[in-house]
Amino acid sequence: MNAILARKYGSPAVLTLEEVTQPTPEGNQLLIKVHAAATNPSNWHRMEGKIPMLRQAYGDPEPNDPAMGGDCSRTVVAVGPNVTRFAVGDAVFGAAKGAFAEYAIAAEKNLVHKPEAVSFIDAAAIPTGGLTALQGLRDHAHITSGQRILIIGASGGVGIYAVQIAKSYDAHVTAVCSTRNIDMVQRLGADKVIDYTEQDWDGAGPYDLILDMVGDRPFEVYVRNLTREGCMVSVGALGMDTTAFMTKMGSYKASEKEAKVFSYIAQFNTDDLMTLAQLLDSGAVRSVIDRTFPLEETAAAMAMQGSKRISGKVVVTMGIEL
Ligand SMILES: NC(=O)c1ccc[n+]([C@@H]2O[C@H](COP(=O)([O-])OP(=O)(O)OC[C@H]3O[C@@H](n4cnc5c(N)ncnc54)[C@H](OP(=O)(O)O)[C@@H]3O)[C@@H](O)[C@H]2O)c1
Repeated sequence: MNAILARKYGSPAVLTLEEVTQPTPEGNQLLIKVHAAATNPSNWHRMEGKIPMLRQAYGDPEPNDPAMGGDCSRTVVAVGPNVTRFAVGDAVFGAAKGAFAEYAIAAEKNLVHKPEAVSFIDAAAIPTGGLTALQGLRDHAHITSGQRILIIGASGGVGIYAVQIAKSYDAHVTAVCSTRNIDMVQRLGADKVIDYTEQDWDGAGPYDLILDMVGDRPFEVYVRNLTREGCMVSVGALGMDTTAFMTKMGSYKASEKEAKVFSYIAQFNTDDLMTLAQLLDSGAVRSVIDRTFPLEETAAAMAMQGSKRISGKVVVTMGIEL
């Protein structure tokens, strides 16, 4: 089978399309035929290998495992002996190791059934961004109905789902994005949009909750835009170097007495994937696809991911069209 591999760290030029042996599922694993696989910042960081903590985990000086990709949708073609929730032929979505490939191995806990009315491309787009938005708003910010929420970086892979999930809680959403994405975030339900190329969000609040994907301001700026009971959840670093952001976050957490700022790493789990499946199925949440690429053009898809300019999601497809 064909698979995209990264045998060394670097730019998208390190990605190669290679013929590899089709894996066999064991225990709680499934073998799936991949139809669509989304790019994510985490794939970019794995490919580049520039963040010291991640590089330690992935292997140094070269990656231990050359497989690339995670979020995807597909059909089950074989199941390990301990799999209980799926059968051959089921349409599923979630995460699989090495999803930029014709076939991939997935753990049962990282998959759920794809709602019939949802396309493979839309389902492949959601896992990481949707879980991050859901867990940030629900578990870390404890979102409630009627809250005033500021979502900074609303047009990206986390932001598009955050806007819709916040609206599903009946929150009042102010979305921060650039001019070209205003219509898109309004269509997703944002009540108010701040075009960051024209206006600063600092001073436009206060907000009960700020969900921030950009990370480029001192934490004091976020805190002064919060209500007395408000909190800020720091998700990512679109606006600065990720390693520098991690250092900044660590020093703030160490010095902060008042619990106003939270950060987290989103976790895959079956229950939350099921929640995303329900949100997709009910129409409360949908994916926004900026562009699709065939498997052999995964390097171009990853270059787009690295640009930090994607409106919604980029998806690599295997024989299906948008
Ligand atoms: N904590 C976690 O578990 C977790 C999970 C997933 C992702 N993350 C992190 O969260 C961040 C967002 O991820 P993502 O998947 O949403 O990224 P993404 O899809 O690459 O985000 C791209 C979007 O961000 C917008 N953008 C870029 N710079 C901006 C700025 N200064 N202000 C407002 N919008 C800006 C871009 O539009 P314009 O260029 O038009 O503005 C584009 O639409 C990343 O740093 C990622 O590593 C963290």
